[in-house]
Amino acid sequence: MTGFSLFSNLNLLICTLLEVLECYIISVESFIIPLLTTLLAAFWIMVPAYIPNPVAALCGGGTPIDFKKNYSDGKRILGDGKTYRGLVCGVSAGIAVGALQIWLAGTCNWDFLPQHTAASIILLSLGALLGDMAKSFVKRRIGKNRGEAWPVADQYDLVAGAFVMMLIFDPAWLFANITWQILIVIIILTPILHRSVNIIGYLLGVKKEPW
Ligand code: CTP
Ligand code: MG
Repeated sequence: MTGFSLFSNLNLLICTLLEVLECYIISVESFIIPLLTTLLAAFWIMVPAYIPNPVAALCGGGTPIDFKKNYSDGKRILGDGKTYRGLVCGVSAGIAVGALQIWLAGTCNWDFLPQHTAASIILLSLGALLGDMAKSFVKRRIGKNRGEAWPVADQYDLVAGAFVMMLIFDPAWLFANITWQILIVIIILTPILHRSVNIIGYLLGVKKEPW
């Protein structure tokens, strides 16, 4: 091999390596970082809606919201799984954590994250448990017992409730913050988190069922 062809081969190798490196940098910049930012933004938005359910499971009990009354079909309106203590503790915890998020984002200047407001954290926390109650109401109507699994509805009730509340009382915030990319992440992330937290709750003895 002549000195010239050795040099040109080396040159080719370096060029190829540089191209691979460039592709890698471009993919990090144009794909991985935006993906992580969207993931973080979706999670940040949903924290006040994710907190109420596990906290309700942790501290719920006592008087049921339906006062043990039956609906016209003879079945419970909501059932023993929906209590005032669970509702108040869950919503309060969601609002408290949301307030902490507002404080953190303000103090640390995290302006790359969606900005929560007093309205957004209240509506998301309250909406999450209202969605959960609405689901229990329908669950009783179709004859499912308290605690019985109802796939899809059990996972998305909180998202539906939170979004409906935002849509009614603060649609401007909803449309400014929930892009379609964030919506897709929320749809994928929610059942994963829901299931993981419920399995942990079940193993710790806080929840009767792992769903
Ligand atoms: N919980 C509560 N009050 C609420 C929501 C939940 O006390 N508003 C508590 C109850 O102890 C409930 C537990 O959290 O059993 C788990 O909540 P969830 O899975 O939503 O209720 P289920 O018992 O499964 O009842 P349902 O079939 O009506 O969903
Ligand atoms: Mg349940």
